[in-house]
Amino acid sequence: MNLFDTLTPAPPDAILGLTEAFKADERPEKINLGVGVYQDDQGRTPVMASVKAAEKVLLETESSKSYLSIGGAPDYKTHVQRLLLGEGHPALHAERVRTAHTPGGTGGLRVGAELLKQLRPDATVWLSDPTWANHRGIFTAAGFRVEVYPYYDAAHKGLNEAGMMTALDGVPADDIVLLHVCCHNPTGVDLTEAQWSAVGRLAADRRWTPFLDFAYQGLGVDLETDRRGLLALVDQVPELFVASSFSKNFGLYRERTGALSLMAATASAATAAFSHLEKTIRVLYSNPPAHGGLIVTTVLNDPALREQWEAEVATIRERIQSVRSALVVGLKERGVDRDFSFIESQKGMFSFSGLTDSQVAFLREQKGIYIVKGGRINVAGITSGNLDYLCDALAEALKPAG
Ligand SMILES: Cc1ncc(COP(=O)(O)O)c(C=O)c1O
Repeated sequence: MNLFDTLTPAPPDAILGLTEAFKADERPEKINLGVGVYQDDQGRTPVMASVKAAEKVLLETESSKSYLSIGGAPDYKTHVQRLLLGEGHPALHAERVRTAHTPGGTGGLRVGAELLKQLRPDATVWLSDPTWANHRGIFTAAGFRVEVYPYYDAAHKGLNEAGMMTALDGVPADDIVLLHVCCHNPTGVDLTEAQWSAVGRLAADRRWTPFLDFAYQGLGVDLETDRRGLLALVDQVPELFVASSFSKNFGLYRERTGALSLMAATASAATAAFSHLEKTIRVLYSNPPAHGGLIVTTVLNDPALREQWEAEVATIRERIQSVRSALVVGLKERGVDRDFSFIESQKGMFSFSGLTDSQVAFLREQKGIYIVKGGRINVAGITSGNLDYLCDALAEALKPAG
C-alpha cells in the first residue's frame, strides 16, 4: 500500500484556513478580521520605511551569504536582549541571559519547548484560557501534557484575577507556565504591574518555570512599558524563558525573525544551558535565516533609523487605538445597547468581541466579514473605508431576535 493513500486531509488551521476562505470570497465588500497581521488605513501591510532603508544599506554592504552560527549573529542577540530588558539591566551585566535567533516567535517557542522537554520530561505546560491556538499545538508536538489556567472573565470582559492566581498558586514545582507579556492574544486583556508582581511571587514561591511569549512589544503602551511584566518576573525568579518576535513590531512576518532567550541563575549555568539549546537547534534547522536579523540589527545600530522605526511602531499603535475608539462610537451610533467600551481598554491587535459562534457565522456567510470562531477580531483590519459597513453588519448581527 502506498504511504499516503489512506490519509484524509488534515483540518485547516483555524486562523490561516480562514484567510484562505477570505481570499476565495469574491464579494468586494469582504473584510478580513481574522489573521493577526497589521493593516494600515488602506488595508495594506506595507514594508516599514525604516526596514526598506535598512535593506538598501544591506544591498550595498552584505558581503556573504555563508551560514550564521547556530544561535545567530552576536549583534542581533545583543539588540534582542536590550529590547527585552533595557540596556544595562543587571541580569545582562551578570551574563545570566543567552539568546538564540530563531525563525520567528513560533520557532522560539518550539526550540524552548524542545529544550524543556529534555530537562523536564514529566512536566505539564500551563496555558492561559484562552490562548493563541498554536500554543497548544507547539507544546503538544514537543511531547508535553498541556493544561489551562483561568484567564479571561467573559462576564466582566476582563481578567479573572482570582481564578488565575488561585490556579497559579496550585501549579506544581517544575511545571511550566506560559504567560503573554503584553497584548494578550486573543483577548487583548493584560495584567497590571501589581498583578505581574503577584505572578512573580507565585512563580518564586511555587518554583514553576515561567515561559514568556513576547510577540507584540511596542503595540500595547510603548516599547518600555510593554516589558514591565517580563521585568517583574526577572526580578523575582532565578530562571525563565522568553520567546520574542519582530514579526509585528518590524512588520517582518515572512522573514521569520524571532528569538528564544533564556535566563539562568548564574553565568556558568547560562553558558551550559545555551550549549544544550544550540544542540537542540542544530538538529531542527541548524542555524537561522539571516535577512530579517540583519534588518533589525541595521535599524537598531543606526540612531536615525532607530528613531524612524520607533515612530513607525507608534503610528501602528496609535492607529489601532483610534480604530478601537471608532468602533465603539460606531456601534453606539447605531443604537447597539450592549456596552462595548471594553474594546477601548484592551491592548494590541486583538479584541474578544463577545460575538457568539452563530453571530460569527452570520457575519461570514451574509456579510463577507471573517472573524475567528470564538469572536476574536483583529481590530487592525478595520479601516475608514470599511468601518461603516462593519458597524452596520455588527449592529444587524447583534439585533435581538424577534
Ligand atoms: C501570541 C503569539 N505568539 C507568537 C506568535 C508567533 O509569531 P511569529 O510570526 O514571529 O512566529 C504570534 C503570532 O501571531 C502570536 O500571536
